[in-house]
Amino acid sequence: RSHLEVCVVAGDDAAPEVVLPAVSLLRDLAPAIHFTQAVSGREAQEVYGDPFPAETRAAIDAADCTLFGASGGPSRPVLWYLRWGKQTYVNIRPVRWLPGYQSPMRYPERIDYVIVRDNLEGMYPPREGALAEIGTLASSASWWQAPPVAETGAYAVRVSTDTQARRVAAYACDLALQRLADGYPGRVTLGAKYSILPRTDGRFREIVRETVREHPELSYQEFLIDDLGRRMIAAPETLDVVVLGNEHGDILADVASGSIGGLGLSPSACYGSDYAYFEPVHGSAPDIAGKGIINPTAMLLSGAMLLTRYGYREQAQRLEHALARVYSDGHILPVDQGGNASTSDFITAVQSYL
Ligand code: NAD
Ligand code: IPM
Ligand code: MN
Repeated sequence: RSHLEVCVVAGDDAAPEVVLPAVSLLRDLAPAIHFTQAVSGREAQEVYGDPFPAETRAAIDAADCTLFGASGGPSRPVLWYLRWGKQTYVNIRPVRWLPGYQSPMRYPERIDYVIVRDNLEGMYPPREGALAEIGTLASSASWWQAPPVAETGAYAVRVSTDTQARRVAAYACDLALQRLADGYPGRVTLGAKYSILPRTDGRFREIVRETVREHPELSYQEFLIDDLGRRMIAAPETLDVVVLGNEHGDILADVASGSIGGLGLSPSACYGSDYAYFEPVHGSAPDIAGKGIINPTAMLLSGAMLLTRYGYREQAQRLEHALARVYSDGHILPVDQGGNASTSDFITAVQSYL
């Protein structure tokens, strides 16, 4: 087909309060894009008796990509499907401060990097069981005593495959090369717990390191994940493209978001070989649901990532510039950024600059 088809799944709690205005803004910006809406969670339960009905799955499948709000629990099966069902293997989470963002950092203007997160493996999807099932599983550390089978407790499985590590690493290198062309340093940084997990994180490190070495234009550095967390705060200017495992990426993306001014500001995109979906880093913000004050910036910037991905570069830039102007003006700021603008006041301000 000639047009781009986007499925919209608004999600739970406060998420629809940012998804719906974002869609109407994207429609104005790029009228050629077709948007179809699909229900999930509580609403779908009421209409179809199922939080993730076959109709919603079919709408996701029929589209080129999905714009997703967030799951606060009821829409969790949709998120599961968008990741594992559609094999969106890499999660891109840009971390960039803009003038006007309420950052707690001393030099926030130095923060401009991108987290490339494994979106499929590690401790996801959850695989837990009773410790008694694996009671005698040997640890690679000789000083560690496996608890006796009778011990009450549970274990969780953490998985890392070469295939996944290779494609995440390849994505990170492509991104670093693209950014190099735009004047960034072309530096890939890996963070992992390779010191205590040689076979999973150690192997991940080896593969990322080797993949970066195939590109002489790129430089490479690696840090243990705890030290990398410190560097994100102490020296963010040393970061360009940061490759992380699934749960490390989950946690550090929120920390990174906090460094620029909070979850209201952080977009993300999940890419697979034949599907993509776009969602903010934040969750469903249940504590502010229904108040009309959720910051739509993260959602709008996720929309800009969608536009960029599908060739609407100019429209994406217009949206980003409009947002940047609202923040640099500083007259109309959302509540989480120290202002008192409602979600719709803020959207109106963005529209006026568009
Ligand atoms: P959260 O990101 O929803 O909220 C954390 C805090 O940040 C809250 O105080 C919230 O009000 C605030 N916040 C988040 N987004 C904001 C925005 N755009 N504007 C202003 N303030 C914002 O995380 P949580 O409270 O830990 O989790 C709530 C639910 O969301 C949980 O069920 C969690 O599993 C889920 N969650 C889903 C996703 C997703 O669907 N991708 C991501 C993260 C969390
Ligand atoms: C995220 C969220 C999800 C994750 C949850 C909702 C499963 O926190 O997208 O960052 O842990 O990946
Ligand atoms: Mn998260």
